Amino acid sequence: MTITLNEQAIEILRKNDRGGFTVPTARLYPYQWNWDSAFVALGFATFDRTRAWRELELLVEGQWPNGMIPHIIFRRDDPDYFPGPSVWRTAGGKFPSGGISQPPVLASIVLSLLEQGGEGDAAKARELYDAIFAWHNWYHTERTPEGHDIVCTVHPWETGRDNCPDWELGLDRMAVDPDIDPYVRKDTEHADASQRPSKLQYDKFVTIIKAGRDLNWDQKRLTNEGPFLMADPGIHFILLRADRDLLKIAQTLGLDEHIGQIQKWIDTAVRASDYLWNDRLGAFCARDVRSGEISQGFSSASALCFYADAGTTEQRKRSVENMERIASKVQFMLPSWDPDADGFEAQRYWCGPVWPQMNHIISEGLAEQGEQELANRIRNDLASVIQQSGFFECFNPVTGAGCIGTDFSWTAAMWLAWATPTKMAS
Ligand code: GLC
Repeated sequence: MTITLNEQAIEILRKNDRGGFTVPTARLYPYQWNWDSAFVALGFATFDRTRAWRELELLVEGQWPNGMIPHIIFRRDDPDYFPGPSVWRTAGGKFPSGGISQPPVLASIVLSLLEQGGEGDAAKARELYDAIFAWHNWYHTERTPEGHDIVCTVHPWETGRDNCPDWELGLDRMAVDPDIDPYVRKDTEHADASQRPSKLQYDKFVTIIKAGRDLNWDQKRLTNEGPFLMADPGIHFILLRADRDLLKIAQTLGLDEHIGQIQKWIDTAVRASDYLWNDRLGAFCARDVRSGEISQGFSSASALCFYADAGTTEQRKRSVENMERIASKVQFMLPSWDPDADGFEAQRYWCGPVWPQMNHIISEGLAEQGEQELANRIRNDLASVIQQSGFFECFNPVTGAGCIGTDFSWTAAMWLAWATPTKMAS
């Protein structure tokens, strides 16, 4: 008997469960990752709500006293991963962890669970609320550089879009620290090196980690003095959406205390969106804060202005035109990088492949803002590549071939919670 894709997806989540938290995929990513866990909770919620909340509770357990929820939580060391806890050497939270964060989708996932659920879900959301508020506060204070009102990032890994050509502007400006310790990459042992970031990029990624360590992970200083400082439409729009959703959670739960503060964050972020506007291209793009230079390609993060409910009518119209241009060039939407821009590579990680969790939030935003046709195409294309190739980490937008990690948790979760045809029928 052949098992259905829904059954396979459930099996993947169960198999990647490490006792309350889920690894993105065995071996390549053997720990708990921040935004992966949030998306994975949506998948668990389709068949086990208690387990869905548990995933989020364990994620919040990694929070630092300054409010940051790190991008990876290292509950136990796994020599199969680089860079592990002995490289980061953080002492911020209850567990060793990475010293940077990741896109803050947590509030939006909690709101989805709350809206689907009942009594028990409200209590769970209440338990997580203060931690989420503290995390957003951290982004708005410690990750917002002095003299600016836009949230930024200090490391490409913080954006979740590790080697997107967007980051070349910032990486080009920084040198590899000659004092970084020699290291052996593990990712290229588990995945095809031609689909992974380059050696020079890795040297720079490790250089930023060393800078963080040298600053004893003082996050304000890392933002203001670190070697890399860019503003990312991904983090900016996801945080703006998450602030809007946090406000709704507060209102639903009758928590008044922070409402004024959250509203201020929203108003500031809506205004700050223009900082990322590339008028030549007609898109919101990543920008190097120190040089002011702006990236020149339409990335999947550019498409998140709809999800954030940001941008003027004209800015949205031009963003849609870019997506229509891209749709005529690829078989499967939405590539992570612009097929007409320098650096596009259909199979190299964030230089082209379609990413399941990005398609989900982009499509959700487009549908909410009345762009139903594009929203449907982005959803249906994800369903098609999964049907064609299986539960890969990401997919070649030209051929639909699966790339890098197999039996991937967020792909399974996005299928169950959103892309599966049975979900559409329900
Ligand atoms: C890669 C991705 C990142 C993801 C992580 C675990 O680093 O770029 O977005 O969170 O893998 O899946």
